[in-house]
Amino acid sequence: MCGIVGYVGPRPALDVVVEGLRRLEYRGYDSSGVALIGPDGLQVAKKAGRIENLDKALADRPLSGGTGMGHTRWATHGRPNDRNAHPHTDATGRVAVVHNGIIENYSQLRAELEGDGIELVSDTDTETVAHLVAGQLAGGAASLADALRAVCRRLHGAFTLVVVDAEQPDVVVAARRNSPLVVGVGDGETFLGSDVAAFIEYTRDAVELAQNQVVEIRRDGYTITDFAGDPAEGKPFRISWDLTAAEKGGYDHFMLKEMDEQPQAVRDTLLGHLVDGQIVLDEQRLDQQELRDIDKVFIVACGTAYHSGLIGKQVIEHWTRVPVEVEMASEFRYRDPVLDRQTLVVPISQSGETADTLEAVRHAVEQRAKVLAICNTNGAQIPRESDAVLYTHAGPEIGVAATKTFLAQVAAVELVGLALAQARGTKYGDEVVREYDALCSMPDAIAATLQAMQPVRDLAREIAHEKAVLFLGRHMGYPVALEGALKLKELAYMHAEGFPAGELKHGPIALIEDDLPVVVVMPSPTGRPTLHQKMLSNVAEITARGARTIVIGEPDDAGARELAAHFVEVPPVPTLLSPFVQTVPLQVLAAEIAAARGYDIDKPRNLAKSVTVE
Ligand code: F6R
Repeated sequence: MCGIVGYVGPRPALDVVVEGLRRLEYRGYDSSGVALIGPDGLQVAKKAGRIENLDKALADRPLSGGTGMGHTRWATHGRPNDRNAHPHTDATGRVAVVHNGIIENYSQLRAELEGDGIELVSDTDTETVAHLVAGQLAGGAASLADALRAVCRRLHGAFTLVVVDAEQPDVVVAARRNSPLVVGVGDGETFLGSDVAAFIEYTRDAVELAQNQVVEIRRDGYTITDFAGDPAEGKPFRISWDLTAAEKGGYDHFMLKEMDEQPQAVRDTLLGHLVDGQIVLDEQRLDQQELRDIDKVFIVACGTAYHSGLIGKQVIEHWTRVPVEVEMASEFRYRDPVLDRQTLVVPISQSGETADTLEAVRHAVEQRAKVLAICNTNGAQIPRESDAVLYTHAGPEIGVAATKTFLAQVAAVELVGLALAQARGTKYGDEVVREYDALCSMPDAIAATLQAMQPVRDLAREIAHEKAVLFLGRHMGYPVALEGALKLKELAYMHAEGFPAGELKHGPIALIEDDLPVVVVMPSPTGRPTLHQKMLSNVAEITARGARTIVIGEPDDAGARELAAHFVEVPPVPTLLSPFVQTVPLQVLAAEIAAARGYDIDKPRNLAKSVTVE
């Protein structure tokens, strides 16, 4: 979290930096700020809250210069106020710093600085870096890059740091460890960004930095070294997105656009993964024998990605007969899971930089497990540290709440199930092709579901004033219920809980009262008749206690239709693929309730798109 932009070139740096921040605002929006080096030396403007507040401050006091940097913050250390907003400067106003991540030894550094008589004016860990860099420069460091390298060698934790020095107006210097940073290479101008959205308007040529590297950018290019100062190389790549992919395309909100992009996201994720009857991954550093030897799978992920993992468990176990555990990544490494060379760990992450998931991957690697990542961000840290990768091709997701990346993750984890089943011989040629073809029919089923969502929108407005909504599911429907509840919590700030419907009578049924909306994700009456029958009984139990049931079911499900207060039709699809269609009404319900309550669905409060702290 936190978005970072840097620029050196002939354009007014302020415009480039503020525009870049606007595109990165999804990474955090507690405050924003810029630092420019111009004719009047180092100038800083920063404000708590959204970028509009910074715009107003800049309108009153415009800044100029061709070298600059900016930051949009998701607060970790220190309340989100003007004082704690980045950039932070040293006492003389020579050096400014912006930072994404957490400096774990900051209390010790702060105490040391205070011992030297330096007064720190913010509550952040970042400010210590401004003073330390200034100290290096005053002590004779040969360059800003030298000064930053010396400081980085002392830092523990995760950081992307960008610094400017009033006395070196033609360079911006940055460093990274465990936190993202890319360089944009233009013609006579160079950019920095937490991701390419920061500079995609100006160049498609980018360079990804590796761990523990420092980069100095100038108008005529860039120089990369490691923290010791030895020359190092980045990884150049060409950006395949265009600007419109990162813009709203006529929708009021990114989230609405992204929900409509779900058929394409699933289609693109599946594309090209069946070659000559064989499932192929994107990056494969595991051989078939290693896949065959796998005797246990752990899926590790957070939030929505975790829910896709719960779906993955069902399909992988069904297709491969290998036991699968799904773990919240934040719990995984702290509980000493049993891992060995025959364990496959599957991290699922949209951003590829979620700290909890990254640390789970590192723990798995340390224990010699094999790691196969599912990720939406090319070249992010999680895929880089994994043995094999399957990318979800959902494109950029700007809305903070995951939608299209969720369904793309479901597609990807089903592909992983097929790849494993094929390697282990539990599914053969024709069977694999048939399952893959069924997956390939999902984009049309999702599109048909999206087109029939008006009744859900109307219903959402009716129940928008309620205090709580419960979600029930069984088997494949249970993770869908969890995802529906999470979407409602994060977007509409309503109390929402997902339960396995069979558990209801063991406690949660006490919550049922007159008119409480309960969303029920119904199994197929033909695909799973026994389960369907049980679920009908659960619906009857809560209806008898006054619940207002909103049932998501197949058009021919006469039994559920009869019991339901509201019946939402989704197309009939094979049971193992049902989350592709059943998730859609729950996303629409959450978005519409949130909109009816007057909330910004693209930027829910307290959240950030990628969470790079544990
Ligand atoms: C919810 C949401 C989060 C993320 C979670 C993991 O809508 O977006 O729960 O799914 O923070 O993020 P990634 O997938 O980037 O690892």
